[in-house]
Amino acid sequence: MRKTSKEFVLDTLSLTLNSKKIILKTAEQDSQSTFNYPNNLVEIKEKFNKQKLFAQNWVNNLKEDFRTEYARLFTFYTVKSYWNLIYDDFTFSMPKVDNSFEELQLDDEIIKLAKSLAEYPSKLDFVEASFQIGNIYTSLLSETYRSSHGIFYTSPEIAYRIIQMAEDAGINWTNSRILDPACGGGAFLAPIALKIAAHLKCTNPEAVLTHIENNLVGYEIDSFSAWLSQIFLEVALNKICKPENRRIKSLIKVCNTLEQLNSNEKFDLIIGNPPFGKITLTKEVRDLYESSLYGHANLYGLFMHFGVLHLNENGVLAYITPTSFLSGEYFKNLRSLIQEKSNAIKFDFVQFRKGMFEGVLQETILSTFKKNKEKKPEVQINELKKDINYKISTISIGKYLLPEDKKAPWLLPRSLPQAQVINKIKLLENRLIDWGYVVKTGPLVWNRHKKQLTNKIQKNSYPLIWSEAISNNGKFNWKADKENHTLYFKVILPQDHWLVTNERCILLQRTTAKEQAKRLISTILPASFIKKYRFVVIENHVNIVKAVNNSPIISLKVLNTFLNSHATDIVFRCISGSVAVSAYELEQLPLPPVNKLKRLEQLIESNAEFEIIESECFKLYELNDVRITEPFTAQRDIKTASTNIS
Ligand SMILES: C[S@@+](CC[C@H](N)C(=O)[O-])C[C@H]1O[C@@H](n2cnc3c(N)ncnc32)[C@H](O)[C@@H]1O
Repeated sequence: MRKTSKEFVLDTLSLTLNSKKIILKTAEQDSQSTFNYPNNLVEIKEKFNKQKLFAQNWVNNLKEDFRTEYARLFTFYTVKSYWNLIYDDFTFSMPKVDNSFEELQLDDEIIKLAKSLAEYPSKLDFVEASFQIGNIYTSLLSETYRSSHGIFYTSPEIAYRIIQMAEDAGINWTNSRILDPACGGGAFLAPIALKIAAHLKCTNPEAVLTHIENNLVGYEIDSFSAWLSQIFLEVALNKICKPENRRIKSLIKVCNTLEQLNSNEKFDLIIGNPPFGKITLTKEVRDLYESSLYGHANLYGLFMHFGVLHLNENGVLAYITPTSFLSGEYFKNLRSLIQEKSNAIKFDFVQFRKGMFEGVLQETILSTFKKNKEKKPEVQINELKKDINYKISTISIGKYLLPEDKKAPWLLPRSLPQAQVINKIKLLENRLIDWGYVVKTGPLVWNRHKKQLTNKIQKNSYPLIWSEAISNNGKFNWKADKENHTLYFKVILPQDHWLVTNERCILLQRTTAKEQAKRLISTILPASFIKKYRFVVIENHVNIVKAVNNSPIISLKVLNTFLNSHATDIVFRCISGSVAVSAYELEQLPLPPVNKLKRLEQLIESNAEFEIIESECFKLYELNDVRITEPFTAQRDIKTASTNIS
């Protein structure tokens, strides 16, 4: 469990320096108990938020090409002003910055704005301050640059939690070599530097600084972020550096971490919030990471691969990442590599999005893995929540086994109600293929064929099925009412042959979020519709569930009803926390044995009431006595899918 601030106070150690007693506190203590926040902080914060918006408006009017450089110059002024505000007596000048923005100039008004943005951070402890200043920088960056490098900084509370998890996994701060491979603005390096200092119990400040310099490392591709990291390391260690009249050496290497895979350097702790997002790899990098790749590469998957390969024996990997690696098909080789090289120790599923990463829709997990020879397939699962005072706390969900098949999805509960569900379904061996079905994605990627989208009926134009044709209530409702959507697609033959179909199938929405009342939203492509138009074209945001032969064991109607049921929705949520309903995850959905479906078939055939059919689906999963709470209790506007198909 996370330490209380009192326990952190107990961590406090004292140092006798030049016969003067100097107290070194952990960062947590600094931020929670001894930092003197001014009374008018709320006002200062409001002013700061308004000024941040002004700065964003200003930068939005700049040309995309120059935005990153201007964002750096602007933030440079804020940092300089922050430095002057907190150190009126500071002996050292600010660390030098790589001045690629030297050529640029800012209007006096903008410089004034940048400088005044330093007031709020200067009233905060340094961890909060680094987060706020880092956020100024990231919010001014061009969207292209920001998302291609996955630049989103970690909030202090989440940083403290993952640091605590590393400690719980056995990290000893006094003798561990530590790397943050994507250190950004120093969210982890600065508090860890203080933690090391506090735990060393060493009275010689020079020895403390040397120890930190020899054992703490950051890698960062963005030179300005690297500079921010160094700034906040200096601020954190100021009380040790000052009496020694020396500054901490640079601990950050500006480099592409992914190109360091073959380096022989090993660490006892690799900690961080690696960048994420799909990435196109050069042949060299793809070859390097071949053993963990399958299909599309994601930046964070490569950082996980890098992490598990650079641990010393008993070393710990502690990362904040999206949850997609737990079950996604693209991560199946990574799952296998991670299990081969390490043991999963603890997973915290983050149950809130607000306050995580601005504008990010991914579900987040904090996880620790430990490299040791003895294999332990059990992992402790926690729910990470925010209480009414916005403080984070964890709830233990229990210990869970990872599957023996190392590539298989890790079916894990994200909450206590889901734990009951997992316990019921973990022994179900049937998958969609056992019911006679496979899943494909709609073949048409519309923006690659813009000129063929049309609203006119003309030769070789066929109905285009978008995801909005699949209504929440399970009805098929052919429409194209979103921006850029059209009702028809003009097929160019022969090359577009593979885009058209006349097969009977179930259509299932490919993008639904966990906040939605339903994750699985499906309908049958009606036979009457195919008869009328002969062929259809199905867009890429639609999954197509189709039979492997002409006489599947389970009818389309029964399968569609089952997929649309509340019970199946609950089970699917235990597999997928992302916004994608992937074909792979659907195919991995645990299903009841075929021979138990007789009653469901009869109920559907006799047009039984919706509640009776729903209740039968619950029975099939043995979920009748499971207490399910939010988000499943959200109002749902579903009638039986089977009875509503036109
Ligand atoms: C999600 S941010 C996290 C930053 C910081 N650790 C934090 O949590 O606040 C990811 C960081 O990784 C950096 N980054 C992206 N690609 C990288 C690469 N290939 N090598 C090193 N750093 C990279 C980005 O510039 C960004 O600062």
